Amino acid sequence: MTATIIDGKAVAEGIRSEIAWSVEQMKAAHGIVPGLATVLVGDNPASHSYVRMKRKACAEAGIESLPHELPGDASQEEVEELVRRLNGDPRVHGILVQLPLPKHLDEERVLSLISLYKDVDGFHPVNIGRLAMKGRKPLFIPCTPHGAIVLLEEAGAQFEGANAVVLGRSNIVGLPAALLLIHRNATVTVCHSRTKDLPAVCRSADILIAAVGRAEMVKADWVKPGAYVIDVGSNRVDDPTSEKGYRWVGDVAFDEVKEVAGAITPSPGGVGPMTIAMLLKNTLRGAELALSGAY
Ligand code: GUN
Repeated sequence: MTATIIDGKAVAEGIRSEIAWSVEQMKAAHGIVPGLATVLVGDNPASHSYVRMKRKACAEAGIESLPHELPGDASQEEVEELVRRLNGDPRVHGILVQLPLPKHLDEERVLSLISLYKDVDGFHPVNIGRLAMKGRKPLFIPCTPHGAIVLLEEAGAQFEGANAVVLGRSNIVGLPAALLLIHRNATVTVCHSRTKDLPAVCRSADILIAAVGRAEMVKADWVKPGAYVIDVGSNRVDDPTSEKGYRWVGDVAFDEVKEVAGAITPSPGGVGPMTIAMLLKNTLRGAELALSGAY
């Protein structure tokens, strides 16, 4: 059996054009342009590239992006002062502090300072806490895991009573992905570096989300026939046959796993574009919260 390929790029494009339409409506009806402030500290090339892509997507959706760059040796006070200023700026409806921050900075303190109403990454401890608790609703859901869940929904996955396995327990992806699956009544197992017999645990999964950052780790014999496989990984590997000398692969050995899975996302072209689409959606929501007088 060959899996259905879940086209994240196409799903993300659909969401982005809906957002562009809503942004137009908001401008016409209320004269408000949603604004996303991006905060980049230091010169990590991957972070710069991600923020560039996010700003380009904002422009295409009619969302204003307000870039802020600080040097790699910026002090904790400088970063906190910037976040406080953005919290009070009425043009800003979303604040994105690109992670990872340089080691000397206290990430937890910075993320805690972001206004709950502008927390478009959903990383504020109160938003994460609400996501973790039954009957509570966060104002924003983290973009990458939310994008992964939307792709599963689009592909027709059934969550109720399904065995879902999440590979990785990061604050950005693995942990919130597990919480989102629990809310949908899946039975969730979170795996990490100390998990025993990882292939066997993965083979029990009706839904498998891989977010560990290990190139092509998930092999065909780790996957239950017919399973839904979501690959969050994005790993650069050497490839002397390619012009650049490298290529990007996911955490899943795509070519072999697609012969076993029922549905699978490619990487690139799966979850990555969804992260950006969900960020735009959260920024629009930030503007709607401002408009509704929520704060
Ligand atoms: N670094 C890697 N992924 C993300 C993300 O979704 N948001 C932010 N702010 N930083 C990241």
